Amino acid sequence: MAISSIDAGVVAPASPARGGAPRLVVVTNREPYLHRATTRGHTVLRRTPGGVVTALDPVLRLRGGVWVAWGSGERDWDEAPDGVVGIPPRHPRYRLHRVRLTPDEAQGYYREYSNASLWPLCHLALERARFYRHAWARYEAVNRKFAEAVLACAGPGDTVWSHDYHLALVPGLVRARRPSQRVTHFWHVPWPPATLFKLCPDREAILTGLLGADVLGFQTADDCRRFLESVEQLLGLPVDHETRVVAYGGRRVVVRAFPVSIDTPMVTGTARLPAAERITRALRRRVERAGLVLGVAVDRLDYSKGILPRLEALDMFFRRFPHRRGRVVLVQVVAPSRSDVPDYARLGAEVHEAVRTINARWGTLEWEPVVSLARPFGLPRLAALYRAADFLLVSSLMDGMNLVAKEFVAAQVDRRGVLLLSEAAGAIAELEDALPINPLDPEGFADTLEQAIRMPVAERRARLDRMQAHLAQYTVQEWAEQVLAAVEQ
Ligand code: G6P
Repeated sequence: MAISSIDAGVVAPASPARGGAPRLVVVTNREPYLHRATTRGHTVLRRTPGGVVTALDPVLRLRGGVWVAWGSGERDWDEAPDGVVGIPPRHPRYRLHRVRLTPDEAQGYYREYSNASLWPLCHLALERARFYRHAWARYEAVNRKFAEAVLACAGPGDTVWSHDYHLALVPGLVRARRPSQRVTHFWHVPWPPATLFKLCPDREAILTGLLGADVLGFQTADDCRRFLESVEQLLGLPVDHETRVVAYGGRRVVVRAFPVSIDTPMVTGTARLPAAERITRALRRRVERAGLVLGVAVDRLDYSKGILPRLEALDMFFRRFPHRRGRVVLVQVVAPSRSDVPDYARLGAEVHEAVRTINARWGTLEWEPVVSLARPFGLPRLAALYRAADFLLVSSLMDGMNLVAKEFVAAQVDRRGVLLLSEAAGAIAELEDALPINPLDPEGFADTLEQAIRMPVAERRARLDRMQAHLAQYTVQEWAEQVLAAVEQ
């Protein structure tokens, strides 16, 4: 998925709006392109993976505008000391405007407040969440830096689109300085119940920050409802639950669900590439020769993904269904993530230990139940793995959407695989043909896995057909269009 170029220092002109649509100013924590060093010491500009970049990079290229993001690439500031990079470098269509953070700011804003306060609270991992004053001060200061960058880049007629829990204050800060600026914000993670969001000492600032937007997007209708209840109960503001509108500061803030999606043709196309097909075929040959059923799981190494409960359920499965011992293998990819946040560093060791235990308990000379790969995989290999799988396990304890589930469906071009999807993932509302699993119920989880393995081919196909038809229509491009249509109408 990554593209590279060493010709990266060109500054793009602030290009005018194309095609009549307003210019767009996208604001994210992660940058869409970063400069990094290759093993040979060359500098390359790489596109970063992820749905938001897939969706918004083409929109920005079309409309022109600016992408404001943290310049966190190891060579970012050597290559572009002023933080401005034209994208694409040879024939720039828009500008990447990098925000420079000091080590203290990165620590307080990103590692602490975003990932050790808001993330665990939103994912209901309450015992992991702690709110410290110094981290909040950094979070506020960094949000101000982002807002300043937005105000410097955005014209009055532009649409500003900020993202996620890292940047909750940006809409309010922009609104305070430019009351008529068009602003939308999308919250990618779950919104917790008001009774728990109240445990955030900075709740008022975060809620009013978000209410600076004209349109506020969430993944599901449940997230919208919980957000509106938080506004009502914690700020005492009038909320119209029917129209999902909040009256605030003399404005109407519209709250809507826009479930994020994937680039379906790209994922399906990748799974069909000859290189992917070769990997799929080789994998299938190996599992079929060994008489195995192939299960797959793909996650960032994050406690919200329910990796440990999934291993417990697999252990339960081999207890309850002894005839499956030696007959089922789970290949799990756990991509390292946020490893400088202590809870994440600990989780790596715990997962390693759990895999070792289950393999020691059930494994034989010829067979190990779990193959765990602790490194990131590019889309071509992932697509091949998804395509080869007899089933995919998504066992999140709490998940805004879960795009792995959608990618699996899109990559299942041979239509053999069954999707087992956590009831706590946002995607369950859309992918009704998945088999729902509860990661807190190991016996129920194990029984559903047995049901998946026994599922007749015709039923697998019928379920995949319906989910594939949905994803063919509802892509990440469609998602972006719907959000922009709502704020620009
Ligand atoms: C989640 C968040 C994203 C974030 C991603 C990866 O999906 O909603 O905003 O970019 O995790 O996490 P990271 O901390 O590496 O950016």
